[in-house]
Amino acid sequence: MDLGLRNRRALVMGASRGLGRAIAAAFAAEGAKVGVCAREGARLHATAKDLGARAFAGDLSVDGAGAEVVRAARDGLGGLDVLVVNTGGPPAGTFDTLDDKAWRAGFEGLVISAIQSIREALPQMRAQKWGRIMIVTSVTAREPIPTIAISNVMRPGLHGLINTLSREVAADGVTLNAIMPGFALTERIVEAGFDQAKLADQIPARRLGKPEEVAALAAFLASDAAAYITGQAIACDGGLLRSI
Ligand SMILES: NC(=O)c1ccc[n+]([C@@H]2O[C@H](COP(=O)([O-])OP(=O)(O)OC[C@H]3O[C@@H](n4cnc5c(N)ncnc54)[C@H](OP(=O)(O)O)[C@@H]3O)[C@@H](O)[C@H]2O)c1
Repeated sequence: MDLGLRNRRALVMGASRGLGRAIAAAFAAEGAKVGVCAREGARLHATAKDLGARAFAGDLSVDGAGAEVVRAARDGLGGLDVLVVNTGGPPAGTFDTLDDKAWRAGFEGLVISAIQSIREALPQMRAQKWGRIMIVTSVTAREPIPTIAISNVMRPGLHGLINTLSREVAADGVTLNAIMPGFALTERIVEAGFDQAKLADQIPARRLGKPEEVAALAAFLASDAAAYITGQAIACDGGLLRSI
C-alpha cells in the first residue's frame, strides 16, 4: 500500500531512540523528509544520520521549546505536513510520593509542551488544507496504572485536547489523533527494570510490542488513506486494554 508519504515533511519529537525513532524511521522508509527532535547530544545526531533525517535539538520540558523546535523544523524542511508529539515519560510515583514540583513538571512536559508545539504547527497546516498531528500518549489514559500517577492524570487531558481541537480543524484537512502504546520494548522499558516475562503474562498477545508496530500505526495515520480518521485515541497494545 502506498501511504503517499513521499516528500511529506514530518517532524517527530522524542525521536533519538525508542518509539519516536521507530516512527521517524517508518516515515523515512516511506520517502518522507524527516526531522527528529530530542535534547541536544550525540544520540540525536547519530539517529538523524542513521535515518537520513535532520536533527532539531530542544528540551521539551522547557517552556516554549516545543514551539521553537516546530519553527526550526518548518524552516529547515520547507514546511510541515506531519507532527508527532512525543517525549520521555514522566517520573513514576504514587499520589503520596509526588510533590507539587513533580506535578508541575509533568504538566509542563506533557501538556503545555504539546499545546505549544501544536499551536505553532497548525496555521500552516490549515492554510495548506492538509496536516496530520499525532500525540503519543499511553494506555494509562484509559486504564490508569497506580504507580505512574502523573501519566494517569495528564494523558487523559491530551485526549481531551485531541477530541476538542480535531473538531475545530477537521474542515481544513488536518487530523489529530492519539496513539496509545501498551508495553512496547524500548530502552525505557529495559532501563525501568520491568520483569518482561511478567508483563507479557498480562498481555493477551503474550508478548511486548515492537516499536515498529507502533510506528506502523503512526505511518498509517499520517497517510492520505487516514484522512477521515480524526479525534481518536487508538491503542497498539496486544489486546491489553479491556475497556470498550
Ligand atoms: N515504551 C512503552 O511501552 C510505552 C508505553 C506507554 C507509553 N509510552 C510513552 O511513550 C513515550 C516514548 O516512550 P519510549 O519508550 O520511546 O521512551 P524512550 O525510549 O525513553 O525515548 C524517549 C525519547 O524522548 C526523548 N526525550 C526525553 N526527554 C526529552 C525532553 N525533555 N525533550 C526532548 N526530548 C526528550 C529522548 O531523547 P533524549 O534523551 O536524547 O533527549 C528519547 O528520544 C513516553 O512518553 C512514554 O511514557 C511508552
